[in-house]
Amino acid sequence: MNVILAVSGGIAAYKTLPLTSALTKVGCDVQVVLTKHAREMVMPLPYETLTSRKVILDMFEPQAEDVLAHINLARWADVVVVAPATANIIAKMAHGIADDFLSTLLLAYGGPLLVAPAMNDQMYLHPATQANIETIAQRGAEILAPVEGQLACHTVGVGKMMEPEDILKAILATAMPKTMTGKRILVSAGPTQEQVDPVRYLTNHSSGKMGYAIAQAAKNAGADVILVSGPVHLDPPPGIKTIPIISTRDLEKAITEAFETCDALIMAAAPSDYRPAVYLDNKMKKGEEDLSLALTRNPDILSAVKEIKKPHQVLVGFAAESQNVEGYAQDKLKRKGLDMIIANDITAANAGFGHDVNTVTVIDRAGQVDHWPTMSKDRLAAQIIERVDKLLNEKKSL
Ligand SMILES: Cc1cc2nc3c(=O)[nH]c(=O)nc-3n(C[C@H](O)[C@H](O)[C@H](O)COP(=O)(O)O)c2cc1C
Repeated sequence: MNVILAVSGGIAAYKTLPLTSALTKVGCDVQVVLTKHAREMVMPLPYETLTSRKVILDMFEPQAEDVLAHINLARWADVVVVAPATANIIAKMAHGIADDFLSTLLLAYGGPLLVAPAMNDQMYLHPATQANIETIAQRGAEILAPVEGQLACHTVGVGKMMEPEDILKAILATAMPKTMTGKRILVSAGPTQEQVDPVRYLTNHSSGKMGYAIAQAAKNAGADVILVSGPVHLDPPPGIKTIPIISTRDLEKAITEAFETCDALIMAAAPSDYRPAVYLDNKMKKGEEDLSLALTRNPDILSAVKEIKKPHQVLVGFAAESQNVEGYAQDKLKRKGLDMIIANDITAANAGFGHDVNTVTVIDRAGQVDHWPTMSKDRLAAQIIERVDKLLNEKKSL
């Protein structure tokens, strides 16, 4: 995907370096454009190192390789994101002013455009700025609304640029081919908690990152997404219906209720197989040296879903194992009637719980085994969604 990251002269410009890095990590080809005033805030060199492309600084660069770059880049880009967008560049966009490289490029460009305003709260709330934002939004620009917070001018108010990771999500969502429009995808994520007494519970190390990334990737591909999430430290993804659950039994109820109307279920949650046999109404007091806790089996959610699954529906499971990873995954795929299983070795470095990257083996119902290289969970999620889409299409054509 070809992305133009246009940085104008706001103090939040420094936040676009991590954004550039994240974009290149998910495989985007990024061209950075800095306005003359942005050049006062950040240096081109780090962007050039990350993108392997010369930053464009001026319309009339004596050494420019392409004198018509403002037109040719507008044709090249799949998406343009202006971040931070100053009050000035927003005003220029609203009024069709083309007096430097960026404003000329924006006038020559007709594709998906994301604009992340960032400025002092008075500047942002000024009727002129609000009217300009309204004008460009009406012409189709997606406004990545600034949030309230501590501003660079030492006041607290609205005008803080959207966080880079949320801008990244918006870019990926905008530019992904919408191959899953009309499909409904159910995703589970995170751990469960099994209450022992009012203050203690049994749980596991699942962070929810993989499931959240899958839900986002499905949304990016145009799907209607329902995310059933255990207790995690992640914000609910915007535009995705999120159902919070606590225990494995809550998860089973939410999944079996929602599954009927869905085309696919991707079970990325890590439900607890057991729960305390008895819930204690009062806090357990300290007693003898040793303590045995009686546990009882929790429902097996994938088995329950297998019973109600219709032929057109796709079922995807995860297998987090510490030994015989492929063997256990093959067995689980068959036993649970899955269409695909994603297996990872939780003992491997850079894989599984809590990490931002993962290394997995993907096995499908036809017996195809793929060992995917280590990649970010966002990229992995996009690849998983591509495979789910393929499986859904295969079923449709049967
Ligand atoms: C230190 C400093 C910080 C600034 N921060 C912002 C800002 O966050 N948002 C904004 O709209 N303008 C900000 N400005 C003002 C812009 O840089 C100014 O309006 C400039 O003309 C914008 O040019 P450009 O849109 O071509 O980059 C700042 C100026 C300075 C000196």
